[in-house]
Amino acid sequence: MSDEKLIEIYKATVYRGNTRVFHNLSLSIDRHQNTAIIGPNGAGKSTFLKLVTRELYPLRQQGSRVRILGKDKWDIWSLRAGIGIVSPDLQHDYAGNVRGVDVVLSGYYSSIGTYQHQTFTDKQHHRARTIMTDLGIADIQDHQFSRMSTGEQRRFLLGRALINTPHTLILDEPTTGLDLTATYHYLDTVRGLMQSGITIVLVTHHIHEIPPEITTVVFLKRGEVFGQGSKQAMLTAPALTELFETPIGLANENGFYQTFPANTH
Ligand SMILES: Nc1ncnc2c1ncn2[C@@H]1O[C@H](COP(=O)(O)OP(=O)(O)OP(=O)(O)O)[C@@H](O)[C@H]1O
Ligand SMILES: [Mg+2]
Repeated sequence: MSDEKLIEIYKATVYRGNTRVFHNLSLSIDRHQNTAIIGPNGAGKSTFLKLVTRELYPLRQQGSRVRILGKDKWDIWSLRAGIGIVSPDLQHDYAGNVRGVDVVLSGYYSSIGTYQHQTFTDKQHHRARTIMTDLGIADIQDHQFSRMSTGEQRRFLLGRALINTPHTLILDEPTTGLDLTATYHYLDTVRGLMQSGITIVLVTHHIHEIPPEITTVVFLKRGEVFGQGSKQAMLTAPALTELFETPIGLANENGFYQTFPANTH
């Protein structure tokens, strides 16, 4: 179905601790629209992603729902196999003594690291190796995750997300902390994934890292949808200026955008 919704959130009220992040939030993302979510710090972007991955639930109230691919009820395993995630929280959770290859293999169980009772077939090991080779990390697969650079860690987490052949990847600030080479390498990889048919939902603060394959943009501000539409319609200097409440200039080159301060003297 071409108009199938990937994510359909309707009237969700969500608390984190004592903070009410969303009050009756309604937001839908189409199945085959690669989407970027942008907005100021604290707007609720990461919280929204946690609703999708069911790390957080909205308050139960009449009429509210979180539907993924048209379904309200999911067993967490098939949900997490179909929707891979790379996020700062996940990276943080892996602080322990885990090898790179175990991070990738742990995707089969959607667990943090691997455990003795978990077994992996030759085919699964083979797939992990293929993915690590594709991502350029096979050589360091035995390195301890906590001693890797941020960019290396990010690639192992992407490998973990890809192991189940997901239809969708959720990336929360995937290039934060990466140098230019690592950023562009990561972007190339993500563009290849979109071209191969994987849907990407990308949260980023870096407008220049929104690849041409992203077609839809959502603005989140103070827990509300501040705008949603095609990338061309959304990414304008006045719209970004209003979203961030700071004067922003915008340039567009080869399908990429670049922002700069608009009030320089
Ligand atoms: N674990 C938590 N406990 C209490 N409040 C939280 C928690 N995590 C987030 N919040 C609050 O929820 C709100 C939304 O946070 P969220 O992390 O979703 O923002 P964000 O848009 O991802 O911001 P950023 O761009 O800084 O990553 C913020 O006001 C934040 O302080
Ligand atoms: Mg965040």
